[in-house]
Amino acid sequence: MPKRRQQTTKPWGGRFREGTHPAVERFTASVHFDRRLAPYDIQGSMAHARMLAKCGILTRAEAEAILRGLRVILREVERGAFPWDPSLEDVHMNIEARLTRKIGAAGGKLHTARSRNDQVALDLRLYLRDQIQVLRRQVRELQGVLLARAGAHLDVILPGYTHLQPAQPVLLAHHLLAYFEMFQRDRERLASCLDRVNVLPLGAGALAGTTFAIDPHTVAADLGFARVAANSLDAVADRDFVAEFLACAALLMMHLSRLGEEIVLWASAEFGFVTLPDALATGSSMMPQKKNPDVAELARGKAGRVYGALMGILTVLKGLPLSYNRDLQEDKEGLFDAVDTAQATVTVMAELLRGLRFRPERMRAAAAGRHLNATDVADYLAAKGVPFRAAHAVVGRLVRHCLERGCAIEALPLEDLRRFSPRFGRDVYEYLTLEACVARRASPGGTAPAAVRRALRDAANRLKVE
Ligand code: ARG
Repeated sequence: MPKRRQQTTKPWGGRFREGTHPAVERFTASVHFDRRLAPYDIQGSMAHARMLAKCGILTRAEAEAILRGLRVILREVERGAFPWDPSLEDVHMNIEARLTRKIGAAGGKLHTARSRNDQVALDLRLYLRDQIQVLRRQVRELQGVLLARAGAHLDVILPGYTHLQPAQPVLLAHHLLAYFEMFQRDRERLASCLDRVNVLPLGAGALAGTTFAIDPHTVAADLGFARVAANSLDAVADRDFVAEFLACAALLMMHLSRLGEEIVLWASAEFGFVTLPDALATGSSMMPQKKNPDVAELARGKAGRVYGALMGILTVLKGLPLSYNRDLQEDKEGLFDAVDTAQATVTVMAELLRGLRFRPERMRAAAAGRHLNATDVADYLAAKGVPFRAAHAVVGRLVRHCLERGCAIEALPLEDLRRFSPRFGRDVYEYLTLEACVARRASPGGTAPAAVRRALRDAANRLKVE
């Protein structure tokens, strides 16, 4: 038998004859990370106290004392003056104990008709609701930068790639708008996730509801929740809204990572499509000549920790019987880290894009003389009646010939072209300029300037509607 420890001062101490083992105290405490929820905990407690008074469960005077005490505590939290006590386990018990110290017995009435189980679910939903809105605004800002930079580069042509091999010429604006679309879907996903976050779990009690005649709908209205949870067991046990947010954040980070990877490539000496402004690059402590794209690399690297948080919560949840289990305390650190990571990455990538200097001459040089118009030569012959398969074979031989001679297709005189197919005419040359190749791709969502101008207008409109 372990030595009897000092009688506990825990709110749940009544049933216990012994104090908590220090190792258990350390192991179970969460206040060092869940104190981040303090403003939301207080906000939720205030709404709860107002409802208890409204329903006649607390007197007006008791509720007033609670509200006053909580306001003082909120200021302490904001000033960094709150005396956090790890032996009080978590943010909820810290704040409640402090309240009772300040206002006396009425403080002990705040927890009427409530459990930490519905309380923590409430806090987390309030927190995440705020953070999703912050993140959506930041993504919107990033999209605005993409739009602005695309609109200013409607005449810049670069190679479009498949397999990272030069494929067909595209407008830089078109390339940038591809990322606009990814981030638009990210923002839509976050909005849809918010609908399911924005549900009030308070009133579920520990798991089965409460014997008090509470009115969760007034709490929902007070806190701006769209709905009240329909099932108390689900309300305290469910963290799928955390997993869903993390899935949205993981996709967002994946997009940021791909953008980061392209900036890394484009900033390399080999591509040279962009230069990084000094303020957005970093140097080497050893090699004086270096200027590194660390921001873009970290955007790529930080995707990993958000994926990790998603796997973490899915794993925590998969074997839990209903309803609340303490495992659920493991929902927070991964979520907090993912929120911080996604918000920081979006913000800094917007800055990076704003400051990036494009090098149109390098892009054009990479697009010229690399046979990016080979598809168009085949299309030209097909338009003149050659079956496309046969045209493809002709142009294949033509490209091989050019590769051997180290020249572009359009550099060959007409009589040379005619040796490959008699259907070639003088009009082929104007057909094969980079501008002509781009302009012909006027299908909806294509890279032709007319299509891209339409896409820009459409994107600006979608950005306006939130
Ligand atoms: N710190 C806990 C958590 O994060 C709060 C709820 C504790 N509930 C309990 N019955 N021990 O989940």
